[in-house]
Amino acid sequence: MNYPTSDTPFDHSPLERTFRIAGVAMNNPTVFAPLAGISHLPMRLLAKRAGCALVYSEMISASGLTYGAAKTIRMLASTAEEKPLAVQLFGSDPEKLARAAQIAETSGADIVDINFGCAVKKILKSNSGAALMRDPQHAAKLLQAVRSVIHIPLTIKMRTGWEPSGTQAMALAHMAEATGVDAVAVHPRTAQQAFRGSADWSLIGRIKDSLNIPVIGNGDITCAEDAARMIAETGCDAVMIGRAAIGNPFIFSDTINHLNGRPPGQVTVVARFRVIDDYVNACVDSLGERSACFMLRSKLGWFTKGLPHASRFRNAVRCVESKAQIIELLEAYQAFILSEE
Ligand SMILES: Cc1cc2nc3c(=O)[nH]c(=O)nc-3n(C[C@H](O)[C@H](O)[C@H](O)COP(=O)(O)O)c2cc1C
Repeated sequence: MNYPTSDTPFDHSPLERTFRIAGVAMNNPTVFAPLAGISHLPMRLLAKRAGCALVYSEMISASGLTYGAAKTIRMLASTAEEKPLAVQLFGSDPEKLARAAQIAETSGADIVDINFGCAVKKILKSNSGAALMRDPQHAAKLLQAVRSVIHIPLTIKMRTGWEPSGTQAMALAHMAEATGVDAVAVHPRTAQQAFRGSADWSLIGRIKDSLNIPVIGNGDITCAEDAARMIAETGCDAVMIGRAAIGNPFIFSDTINHLNGRPPGQVTVVARFRVIDDYVNACVDSLGERSACFMLRSKLGWFTKGLPHASRFRNAVRCVESKAQIIELLEAYQAFILSEE
Protein backbone atom coordinates (compact mmCIF):
# COMPACT_ATOMS: atom_id res chain seq x y z
CA MET A 1 0.00 0.00 0.00
CA ASN A 2 1.19 3.54 -0.63
CA TYR A 3 -0.17 7.05 -0.37
CA PRO A 4 -0.68 8.73 -3.73
CA THR A 5 -1.37 12.44 -3.71
CA SER A 6 -3.90 13.92 -6.09
CA ASP A 7 -1.86 14.64 -9.18
CA THR A 8 1.45 12.92 -8.49
CA PRO A 9 1.10 9.20 -7.85
CA PHE A 10 3.97 8.05 -5.67
CA ASP A 11 6.32 5.83 -7.61
CA HIS A 12 7.77 2.90 -5.70
CA SER A 13 10.15 1.85 -8.47
CA PRO A 14 13.83 1.75 -7.56
CA LEU A 15 15.16 5.27 -7.57
CA GLU A 16 18.44 6.62 -8.72
CA ARG A 17 19.71 7.74 -5.33
CA THR A 18 19.97 4.77 -3.02
CA PHE A 19 22.06 4.10 0.05
CA ARG A 20 23.30 1.14 1.98
CA ILE A 21 24.28 0.47 5.56
CA ALA A 22 26.60 -2.54 5.36
CA GLY A 23 24.35 -5.34 4.07
CA VAL A 24 21.07 -3.41 4.34
CA ALA A 25 20.07 -1.65 1.11
CA MET A 26 17.67 1.28 0.99
CA ASN A 27 15.99 2.27 -2.29
CA ASN A 28 15.93 5.99 -1.53
CA PRO A 29 17.71 8.32 0.89
CA THR A 30 14.89 9.07 3.37
CA VAL A 31 14.91 8.00 7.01
CA PHE A 32 12.27 8.45 9.74
CA ALA A 33 13.97 9.62 12.95
CA PRO A 34 13.67 7.94 16.32
CA LEU A 35 11.10 9.93 18.32
CA ALA A 36 10.33 8.83 21.88
CA GLY A 37 6.59 8.47 22.43
CA ILE A 38 5.93 8.94 18.71
CA SER A 39 7.81 6.59 16.37
CA HIS A 40 6.01 3.46 17.51
CA LEU A 41 5.01 0.79 14.98
CA PRO A 42 1.79 2.51 13.76
CA MET A 43 3.60 5.79 13.04
CA ARG A 44 6.49 3.97 11.37
CA LEU A 45 4.05 2.15 9.09
CA LEU A 46 2.68 5.48 7.87
CA ALA A 47 6.21 6.66 7.07
CA LYS A 48 6.93 3.42 5.24
CA ARG A 49 3.72 3.60 3.20
CA ALA A 50 4.72 7.10 2.13
CA GLY A 51 7.95 5.66 0.76
CA CYS A 52 10.38 6.23 3.64
CA ALA A 53 13.28 3.82 3.12
CA LEU A 54 14.43 3.27 6.71
CA VAL A 55 12.54 3.69 9.98
CA TYR A 56 13.97 3.92 13.51
CA SER A 57 12.21 2.76 16.66
CA GLU A 58 11.78 5.04 19.64
CA MET A 59 14.77 4.83 21.96
CA ILE A 60 14.48 1.66 24.03
CA SER A 61 16.08 1.16 27.43
CA ALA A 62 18.86 -1.45 27.40
CA SER A 63 18.21 -2.04 31.10
CA GLY A 64 14.50 -2.55 30.48
CA LEU A 65 15.21 -5.11 27.77
CA THR A 66 17.75 -7.04 29.82
CA TYR A 67 15.41 -7.12 32.84
CA GLY A 68 12.68 -8.42 30.55
CA ALA A 69 10.29 -5.56 31.40
CA ALA A 70 7.12 -6.39 29.46
CA LYS A 71 6.45 -2.79 28.43
CA THR A 72 9.99 -2.42 27.08
CA ILE A 73 9.91 -5.74 25.24
CA ARG A 74 6.65 -4.65 23.55
CA MET A 75 8.53 -1.71 22.04
CA LEU A 76 10.36 -4.20 19.80
CA ALA A 77 7.09 -5.13 18.07
CA SER A 78 7.46 -4.95 14.31
CA THR A 79 5.97 -6.28 11.08
CA ALA A 80 7.45 -7.33 7.75
CA GLU A 81 5.87 -4.29 6.07
CA GLU A 82 8.03 -1.76 7.89
CA LYS A 83 11.36 -3.42 7.22
CA PRO A 84 14.18 -2.54 7.26
CA LEU A 85 13.90 -1.43 10.90
CA ALA A 86 16.61 0.13 13.02
CA VAL A 87 16.07 -0.46 16.74
CA GLN A 88 17.55 2.31 18.84
CA LEU A 89 18.89 1.50 22.30
CA PHE A 90 20.03 3.75 25.11
CA GLY A 91 22.10 2.87 28.13
CA SER A 92 25.51 3.29 29.67
CA ASP A 93 26.53 -0.19 30.76
CA PRO A 94 28.50 -2.01 28.02
CA GLU A 95 27.36 -5.48 29.08
CA LYS A 96 23.71 -4.52 29.28
CA LEU A 97 23.84 -2.71 25.96
CA ALA A 98 25.49 -5.70 24.33
CA ARG A 99 22.86 -8.05 25.77
CA ALA A 100 20.06 -5.68 24.73
CA ALA A 101 21.51 -5.47 21.22
CA GLN A 102 21.43 -9.27 21.00
CA ILE A 103 17.80 -9.24 22.13
CA ALA A 104 17.00 -6.64 19.45
CA GLU A 105 18.79 -8.71 16.81
CA THR A 106 16.94 -11.87 17.84
CA SER A 107 13.64 -9.99 17.73
CA GLY A 108 14.21 -9.26 14.03
CA ALA A 109 15.85 -5.81 13.96
CA ASP A 110 17.79 -5.17 10.77
CA ILE A 111 20.05 -2.57 12.35
CA VAL A 112 20.93 -1.70 15.95
CA ASP A 113 21.44 1.98 16.72
CA ILE A 114 22.93 3.41 19.90
CA ASN A 115 21.68 6.76 21.18
CA PHE A 116 24.48 9.30 21.75
CA GLY A 117 22.25 12.32 21.34
CA CYS A 118 19.40 12.41 23.84
CA ALA A 119 19.84 15.45 26.07
CA VAL A 120 16.82 14.92 28.35
CA LYS A 121 17.78 15.31 32.04
CA LYS A 122 16.74 11.82 33.11
CA ILE A 123 18.81 10.20 30.34
CA LEU A 124 21.85 12.41 31.00
CA LYS A 125 21.66 11.58 34.71
CA SER A 126 22.00 7.90 33.89
CA ASN A 127 25.12 8.70 31.80
CA SER A 128 23.34 7.70 28.61
CA GLY A 129 22.53 9.60 25.43
CA ALA A 130 24.51 12.79 24.90
CA ALA A 131 26.33 12.26 28.23
CA LEU A 132 28.36 9.59 26.43
CA MET A 133 29.82 12.25 24.13
CA ARG A 134 31.74 13.60 27.13
CA ASP A 135 33.44 10.29 27.79
CA PRO A 136 35.03 8.94 24.59
CA GLN A 137 36.80 6.06 26.34
CA HIS A 138 33.59 4.76 27.82
CA ALA A 139 31.81 5.33 24.50
CA ALA A 140 34.44 3.17 22.80
CA LYS A 141 33.91 0.38 25.34
CA LEU A 142 30.16 0.47 24.71
CA LEU A 143 30.54 0.26 20.97
CA GLN A 144 33.15 -2.50 21.14
CA ALA A 145 30.90 -4.51 23.44
CA VAL A 146 27.90 -4.20 21.13
CA ARG A 147 29.89 -4.69 17.92
CA SER A 148 31.43 -7.90 19.21
CA VAL A 149 28.10 -9.64 19.80
CA ILE A 150 25.78 -8.66 16.94
CA HIS A 151 25.93 -9.71 13.31
CA ILE A 152 23.65 -7.01 11.88
CA PRO A 153 24.76 -3.44 11.08
CA LEU A 154 25.43 -1.07 13.97
CA THR A 155 24.79 2.67 13.75
CA ILE A 156 24.97 5.59 16.15
CA LYS A 157 23.00 8.81 16.35
CA MET A 158 24.69 11.80 17.90
CA ARG A 159 24.61 15.51 18.47
CA THR A 160 27.37 18.11 18.05
CA GLY A 161 28.49 17.41 21.61
CA TRP A 162 28.86 19.79 24.53
CA GLU A 163 30.44 22.70 22.71
CA PRO A 164 29.60 24.11 19.29
CA SER A 165 32.86 23.41 17.41
CA GLY A 166 31.89 19.81 16.64
CA THR A 167 35.23 18.41 17.85
CA GLN A 168 33.48 15.86 20.07
CA ALA A 169 31.19 14.74 17.25
CA MET A 170 34.11 14.40 14.86
CA ALA A 171 36.12 12.36 17.40
CA LEU A 172 33.16 10.12 18.17
CA ALA A 173 32.46 9.57 14.46
CA HIS A 174 36.07 8.51 13.82
CA MET A 175 36.17 6.25 16.84
CA ALA A 176 32.85 4.70 15.75
CA GLU A 177 34.13 4.02 12.24
CA ALA A 178 37.31 2.45 13.62
CA THR A 179 35.22 0.27 15.96
CA GLY A 180 33.14 -1.17 13.14
CA VAL A 181 30.09 1.06 13.29
CA ASP A 182 28.40 1.00 9.88
CA ALA A 183 26.83 4.49 9.69
CA VAL A 184 26.39 7.61 11.78
CA ALA A 185 23.43 9.95 12.01
CA VAL A 186 24.25 13.53 12.99
CA HIS A 187 21.84 16.03 14.57
CA PRO A 188 24.15 19.05 14.69
CA ARG A 189 22.95 20.84 17.79
CA THR A 190 24.79 20.86 21.09
CA ALA A 191 23.36 19.01 24.08
CA GLN A 192 22.67 22.33 25.80
CA GLN A 193 20.76 23.62 22.81
CA ALA A 194 18.09 20.92 23.09
CA PHE A 195 15.92 22.06 20.14
CA ARG A 196 16.70 25.77 20.33
CA GLY A 197 18.50 27.72 17.62
CA SER A 198 19.16 25.99 14.35
CA ALA A 199 21.04 22.87 13.36
CA ASP A 200 24.56 23.58 12.01
CA TRP A 201 24.46 21.54 8.82
CA SER A 202 28.10 22.39 8.05
CA LEU A 203 29.10 19.83 10.70
CA ILE A 204 27.24 17.10 8.78
CA GLY A 205 29.32 18.03 5.72
CA ARG A 206 32.59 18.00 7.65
CA ILE A 207 31.85 14.59 9.13
CA LYS A 208 30.78 13.23 5.75
CA ASP A 209 34.02 14.48 4.18
CA SER A 210 36.17 12.72 6.73
CA LEU A 211 34.46 9.30 7.01
CA ASN A 212 34.14 6.34 4.68
CA ILE A 213 30.93 4.99 6.21
CA PRO A 214 27.53 6.53 5.33
CA VAL A 215 26.47 9.71 7.11
CA ILE A 216 22.79 10.44 7.71
CA GLY A 217 22.05 14.16 8.10
CA ASN A 218 19.36 15.30 10.50
CA GLY A 219 17.93 18.51 11.87
CA ASP A 220 15.38 21.11 10.81
CA ILE A 221 14.15 19.51 7.60
CA THR A 222 10.62 20.85 7.24
CA CYS A 223 9.89 20.13 3.56
CA ALA A 224 11.21 18.32 0.49
CA GLU A 225 13.23 21.35 -0.56
CA ASP A 226 15.06 21.38 2.79
CA ALA A 227 15.90 17.70 2.36
CA ALA A 228 17.35 18.30 -1.11
CA ARG A 229 19.28 21.31 0.18
CA MET A 230 20.79 19.27 3.02
CA ILE A 231 21.99 16.63 0.57
CA ALA A 232 23.39 19.27 -1.79
CA GLU A 233 25.10 21.28 0.95
CA THR A 234 26.55 18.42 3.00
CA GLY A 235 26.87 15.47 0.62
CA CYS A 236 25.16 13.29 3.25
CA ASP A 237 24.07 9.84 2.10
CA ALA A 238 20.54 10.13 3.47
CA VAL A 239 18.28 12.58 5.27
CA MET A 240 16.60 11.78 8.57
CA ILE A 241 13.31 13.57 9.22
CA GLY A 242 11.75 13.81 12.68
CA ARG A 243 9.32 16.50 13.78
CA ALA A 244 8.13 17.41 10.29
CA ALA A 245 6.96 13.83 9.73
CA ILE A 246 4.75 13.72 12.82
CA GLY A 247 1.23 13.43 11.42
CA ASN A 248 2.64 14.22 7.95
CA PRO A 249 4.11 11.12 6.29
CA PHE A 250 3.67 12.89 2.93
CA ILE A 251 6.98 14.63 3.59
CA PHE A 252 8.66 11.37 2.55
CA SER A 253 6.80 10.99 -0.76
CA ASP A 254 7.28 14.71 -1.45
CA THR A 255 11.01 14.40 -0.78
CA ILE A 256 11.42 11.37 -3.00
CA ASN A 257 9.44 13.02 -5.79
CA HIS A 258 11.45 16.22 -5.42
CA LEU A 259 14.80 14.39 -5.49
CA ASN A 260 13.69 12.70 -8.69
CA GLY A 261 12.59 15.87 -10.39
CA ARG A 262 8.88 15.23 -10.01
CA PRO A 263 6.48 17.84 -8.61
CA PRO A 264 5.32 17.21 -5.03
CA GLY A 265 1.60 17.16 -5.77
CA GLN A 266 -1.16 18.58 -3.65
CA VAL A 267 -2.10 16.33 -0.72
CA THR A 268 -5.87 15.93 -0.94
CA VAL A 269 -8.22 15.94 2.03
CA VAL A 270 -9.22 12.38 1.17
CA ALA A 271 -5.56 11.27 1.20
CA ARG A 272 -5.03 12.95 4.60
CA PHE A 273 -8.03 11.20 6.10
CA ARG A 274 -6.94 7.86 4.64
CA VAL A 275 -3.68 8.26 6.55
CA ILE A 276 -5.58 9.04 9.76
CA ASP A 277 -7.78 5.95 9.27
CA ASP A 278 -4.67 3.85 8.74
CA TYR A 279 -3.13 5.24 11.90
CA VAL A 280 -6.26 4.51 13.93
CA ASN A 281 -6.43 0.95 12.59
CA ALA A 282 -2.72 0.32 13.19
CA CYS A 283 -2.98 1.68 16.75
CA VAL A 284 -5.97 -0.56 17.53
CA ASP A 285 -4.18 -3.57 16.02
CA SER A 286 -1.04 -2.90 17.98
CA LEU A 287 -2.40 -1.72 21.35
CA GLY A 288 -5.93 -3.04 21.55
CA GLU A 289 -9.01 -0.80 21.28
CA ARG A 290 -9.08 0.55 24.83
CA SER A 291 -5.45 1.65 25.07
CA ALA A 292 -5.45 2.86 21.47
CA CYS A 293 -8.47 5.12 22.04
CA PHE A 294 -6.92 6.57 25.16
CA MET A 295 -3.71 7.32 23.30
CA LEU A 296 -5.44 8.63 20.17
CA ARG A 297 -7.29 11.27 22.19
CA SER A 298 -4.13 13.35 22.29
CA LYS A 299 -2.44 12.20 19.08
CA LEU A 300 -5.04 12.64 16.34
CA GLY A 301 -4.51 16.40 16.46
CA TRP A 302 -1.09 15.87 14.85
CA PHE A 303 -2.82 14.84 11.64
CA THR A 304 -5.33 17.66 11.36
CA LYS A 305 -2.96 20.60 11.75
CA GLY A 306 -3.87 23.32 9.28
CA LEU A 307 -7.31 21.88 8.47
CA PRO A 308 -10.32 24.16 9.11
CA HIS A 309 -11.79 23.91 12.62
CA ALA A 310 -8.98 21.57 13.71
CA SER A 311 -9.28 22.72 17.33
CA ARG A 312 -12.97 21.74 17.41
CA PHE A 313 -12.02 18.30 16.14
CA ARG A 314 -9.26 17.99 18.75
CA ASN A 315 -11.75 18.86 21.50
CA ALA A 316 -14.24 16.35 20.18
CA VAL A 317 -11.75 13.45 20.17
CA ARG A 318 -10.56 14.23 23.68
CA CYS A 319 -13.13 11.90 25.24
CA VAL A 320 -13.52 9.13 22.65
CA GLU A 321 -13.93 5.64 24.07
CA SER A 322 -14.25 3.39 21.04
CA LYS A 323 -12.88 2.99 17.54
CA ALA A 324 -16.43 3.35 16.18
CA GLN A 325 -16.70 6.77 17.84
CA ILE A 326 -13.39 7.87 16.32
CA ILE A 327 -14.40 6.69 12.84
CA GLU A 328 -17.73 8.48 13.16
CA LEU A 329 -16.00 11.73 14.15
CA LEU A 330 -13.47 11.41 11.34
CA GLU A 331 -16.17 10.75 8.75
CA ALA A 332 -18.21 13.73 9.91
CA TYR A 333 -15.13 15.97 9.95
CA GLN A 334 -14.03 14.88 6.49
CA ALA A 335 -17.54 15.36 5.06
CA PHE A 336 -17.68 18.83 6.61
CA ILE A 337 -14.32 19.85 5.11
CA LEU A 338 -15.24 18.49 1.67
CA SER A 339 -18.57 20.32 1.79
CA GLU A 340 -16.71 23.57 2.42
CA GLU A 341 -14.26 23.10 -0.48
C1 LIG B 1 9.44 14.32 20.80
C2 LIG B 1 10.83 13.93 20.38
C3 LIG B 1 11.33 12.70 20.73
C4 LIG B 1 12.62 12.32 20.34
N1 LIG B 1 13.08 11.09 20.67
C5 LIG B 1 14.30 10.69 20.24
C6 LIG B 1 14.77 9.37 20.48
O1 LIG B 1 14.08 8.52 21.07
N2 LIG B 1 16.03 9.05 20.06
C7 LIG B 1 16.82 9.94 19.37
O2 LIG B 1 17.94 9.61 18.99
N3 LIG B 1 16.38 11.18 19.11
C8 LIG B 1 15.14 11.56 19.51
N4 LIG B 1 14.69 12.80 19.19
C9 LIG B 1 15.49 13.66 18.29
C10 LIG B 1 15.09 13.42 16.83
O3 LIG B 1 15.35 12.10 16.43
C11 LIG B 1 15.82 14.38 15.88
O4 LIG B 1 17.20 14.20 16.05
C12 LIG B 1 15.48 15.84 16.17
O5 LIG B 1 14.10 16.00 16.36
C13 LIG B 1 15.97 16.74 15.02
O6 LIG B 1 15.37 16.35 13.82
P1 LIG B 1 14.10 17.15 13.20
O7 LIG B 1 14.48 18.60 13.13
O8 LIG B 1 13.86 16.51 11.87
O9 LIG B 1 12.96 16.95 14.17
C14 LIG B 1 13.42 13.21 19.59
C15 LIG B 1 12.90 14.45 19.24
C16 LIG B 1 11.62 14.83 19.61
C17 LIG B 1 11.08 16.16 19.19
